[in-house]
Amino acid sequence: MKPEIPFYKAEVIAENSRMISNAFTGHSYALCYLVEGRDYALLIDSILGIGNLKAFCETLTDKPIVPVNTHAHSDHFGGNFFFDTCYMHHRDIAAFQDGVGKVKKQQIVDLAKGMALEEYRDLLEPDDNFADWDPMKVLPLYGGDVFDLGDRKIEVVEVGGHTAGSIVLIDPLTRIAYSGDACNGNTLLEFPDSLPIASYMKNLLRLKERQGEFDKMYGGHEIFDASIVDEAIETVGRVIAGTDDRVEAKGILGYPVFYAAAKVKDGYERADGKRFNMTYLPGKILGPDREAQAFTLPREQ
Ligand SMILES: [Fe+2]
Repeated sequence: MKPEIPFYKAEVIAENSRMISNAFTGHSYALCYLVEGRDYALLIDSILGIGNLKAFCETLTDKPIVPVNTHAHSDHFGGNFFFDTCYMHHRDIAAFQDGVGKVKKQQIVDLAKGMALEEYRDLLEPDDNFADWDPMKVLPLYGGDVFDLGDRKIEVVEVGGHTAGSIVLIDPLTRIAYSGDACNGNTLLEFPDSLPIASYMKNLLRLKERQGEFDKMYGGHEIFDASIVDEAIETVGRVIAGTDDRVEAKGILGYPVFYAAAKVKDGYERADGKRFNMTYLPGKILGPDREAQAFTLPREQ
């Protein structure tokens, strides 16, 4: 019999709250969370889609599982395709739908082979642990929406910046904010769908108003205490004022970007010991935060 590949592992982080990460890779590329209530369990992000996440979650809960995405990036929604329905902020739905139908499970197998520990590499094949990016029902979220799990309520807070529709989900019961990529040590604001920095600041101030409700921020890649919000506001303020460190770097999409805070030599950490950092494009600091969408002819498939 073929050995089992340990695609995922789960760790209890609070009452009826688990952090799920990939286990076949040797280190975690992305994190998602399963928060269980009386009536259903909320799956906050679904990471890469490597391994049947629905089947794994069903070993952790017998409640119905409802997926919600903190934003529409594929390292946060890849596992959606094991489900029929997901929730995401209305401003990120177009970006999500743009990728649907374009990725086949074999491509994800190839991605998995590149990430897997040596002993699992040759065992990976396009079986039920992988899913095509088939169309699925996407339900739109707005700021202030609440997931009422029966005995706990988790609220949607809009913290657009990294993407226009990035959200943070606050669980007051456990004093955890599930923050995706909204505010972390490498907050990328260099994407075409990232918001202008001034809009990001406005949204950080909205999160600041709620800071008294959470102690920890469990993100899509990293975990911080709530004070990182203050570092973010301070750093973004310096970017807007033009007094940040403005360190040139090559962005994830290949074009030049700036890091707001200088890092240690050959390392990821900030040179001044603080934790929040961000990239940005110098031409996109102020500028319109267009809530309205522009509809163009669909691109050729
Ligand atoms: Fe992201």
